[in-house]
Amino acid sequence: MPIIPRYMLAAFIMLVAAIFAISPFASTFVEQWARRDVELRSTLVFNSVRDELANLLAVGATTQINNLFGRLALDGRLLAVGYCDHEGSLLYRSTLMPADFSCEKVARTASASFSTIAADNRNLVVGSFPIATDKTSGHLILLHDLTFAEQRGAQARTWITIALAGVALIGAALASTFALLIVRRGLQSIRRAIEDVKAGRNGGFSQDYGLVFGRQIRDVLQDITETRRSIDATHVDWGPEVLRTALASQLADAEIIVVSNREPYIHNRVADGIALQMPASGLVAAIEPVMRACGGIWIAHGSGSADRDVVDAKDCIRVPPASPSYTLRRVWLSQQEEEGYYFGLANEGLWPLCHIVFVRPAFREADWNEYRAVNARFAAAIVEEAKRPDPIVLVQDYHFALLPKMIRERLPEATIITFWHIPWPNAETFGICPWKEEIIAGLLGSSVLGFHTQFHCNNFIDTVDRFIESRIDREHASVTVSGLETFVRPYPISIEWPPAALASQKPVADCRRSVRANLGLNDSMRMGVGIERFDYTKGILDRLRAVDTFLCRYPEWVGRFVFLQVAAPTRAKLATYRNLQDEVERLAREINARHGAGGYTPILLIVRHHEPEEVFELFRAADLCVISSLHDGMNLVAKEFVAARDDEQGVLILSDFAGASRELSGALIVNPYDLQSVSEAIGQALRMSEQEQRDRMRLMRDVVRSRNVYRWAGQMLLDASQLRKRQKIMLMASRKPKSTLIQGRFGKLRQVR
Ligand code: F6P
Repeated sequence: MPIIPRYMLAAFIMLVAAIFAISPFASTFVEQWARRDVELRSTLVFNSVRDELANLLAVGATTQINNLFGRLALDGRLLAVGYCDHEGSLLYRSTLMPADFSCEKVARTASASFSTIAADNRNLVVGSFPIATDKTSGHLILLHDLTFAEQRGAQARTWITIALAGVALIGAALASTFALLIVRRGLQSIRRAIEDVKAGRNGGFSQDYGLVFGRQIRDVLQDITETRRSIDATHVDWGPEVLRTALASQLADAEIIVVSNREPYIHNRVADGIALQMPASGLVAAIEPVMRACGGIWIAHGSGSADRDVVDAKDCIRVPPASPSYTLRRVWLSQQEEEGYYFGLANEGLWPLCHIVFVRPAFREADWNEYRAVNARFAAAIVEEAKRPDPIVLVQDYHFALLPKMIRERLPEATIITFWHIPWPNAETFGICPWKEEIIAGLLGSSVLGFHTQFHCNNFIDTVDRFIESRIDREHASVTVSGLETFVRPYPISIEWPPAALASQKPVADCRRSVRANLGLNDSMRMGVGIERFDYTKGILDRLRAVDTFLCRYPEWVGRFVFLQVAAPTRAKLATYRNLQDEVERLAREINARHGAGGYTPILLIVRHHEPEEVFELFRAADLCVISSLHDGMNLVAKEFVAARDDEQGVLILSDFAGASRELSGALIVNPYDLQSVSEAIGQALRMSEQEQRDRMRLMRDVVRSRNVYRWAGQMLLDASQLRKRQKIMLMASRKPKSTLIQGRFGKLRQVR
């Protein structure tokens, strides 16, 4: 029951109890008061007639006495008047004297006395007044009817009840209003306390919470928050609000700077103006929701043809355009810089080096020089944008291996969290890189260095061990070089939950119908999908070959199953990528020629960028999704497919060599190099019962929901906050200049230089 009605009910019950308790007293009091009134009146009457009566009695003037008594009895309250002589005989009486009245019933004392007698079923007050003359003596008897007193008592009861009810109702209403005000004020105070805790405002007990318990609640909440955090950040249900809260409470006033090569929003010139595009990038898909939640600045390469047209004088633009929540700062690169740093060292050197897919890495001195120069340019941009000496800088990916050290040199108090979005190979493989020492040293400028999996962390530590003079603490997974300690740990990246692209989706049945209609397929056609950038690491060729094998082995599926391959062009300047596209198109034609007939085309290849909403619609329309990466850090497409299937149907066939396979155990895990096993998995997926699909999908959706990108960012940021707190404690304790201290691993700090 709501609190106010409950108060009203309580007040009402108390009112009834009060009426029952008070009203008997009230009527007794009124009756007594009336009786006293009657006695007083009797005495007055006696005093006024005593002499006259004595004279009449003395002469035995019966008629005059009867007349006198008759006159007296005209008084409405006086019922009857009589005279009892000293022998107890009623000598005179007025007409209404009750027939059963006798002088024996009343006290006839030497002084006036009063008694109550019952006569004719009513209570009468009898006043007995002594009166004496020379010849006779007796008592004047005055009978008053007390019925009026009872009536008065009843009336008094009624009025008191009404009055009490009125007072009680007004009182209850006032009490309820006060209670409401107090409760409201209390709630406001609690809310303010909660807001303060959420925002990380301590207030130093100076906050005016209006009510003392607001402050107590704030303290309790802070305790709970601290306890929860100290238990394990992984147990929190992460979402944008939780991330914001964690940030506000643990890194209050922190300045967040993200740096990546790829920008989250690209402005391109098109025929009718400027078109906005979100690139096909796992990195962008992960970081963008985090930035939307936390705000800050994102520094990235401005690669769109209209990017310069929309920025301000400082090369900044607030994004997302629909509801700006953070700043995108664009860095312009010359063609030479882009070719050397991005296409050259990053994508022809480090990309194939880290993805073991048997594409030979190319290492060119000129590319390396551009890579170093561009890293230095981004370092300068970060220093320029930093408003404080200790920003939190989130460095993204293999484009910026040298950046952490460059930032550390210029902003020694910065907390630098670097995330390597691609795999880290084993030491032998990495060892072929001519600049391995510089790359490792650059990364070790980070406070925290993150990879998707523990396996990649181990590979990195082994590589450091092999090529750099360092102190490695395997128990705490940290590396110390020249006194600077870097914590190396896994942070499996993910997507936002629920994904924004899901909000606008039609029901799955509608998606199935409309996608099939757009592709010219009949409603019963079973469909597999593969959606990604046109990259050789994704195993697109192997996937198409597996479909071919499947149709060869199970010809009953010819005409009943198609595979839709959507590929977004990427890095098209590089021959490997162009060749891949040619080869995929050739292979698709070959397979279609082998199995296609009468309007049936088993491989549908669409080479263009798809916005997230289109991608989600295709996922929802499909019976299965194949992720056959030959090597992949995580692969967020797998998680997006799972997130898109809120109908808990659809089968995910996932490469064992994608980081996602460590988390998505409900998928059919395959070796993409093994065509037979992938083709078997396609058959198994097409035959899988709805119940099994549901069981598997539920398992995976639960993982993607709880291990979302807010958790990914939150864990890194909370780790950063721990480092900063310990750093501050050490700085206070040491009284040494700040620059002589650097953060050690999570339990301690070291002094350097
Ligand atoms: O996997 C590394 C990565 O940065 C991903 O985040 C993303 O999918 C891809 O590379 C983007 O490549 P690019 O920015 O070169 O188009």
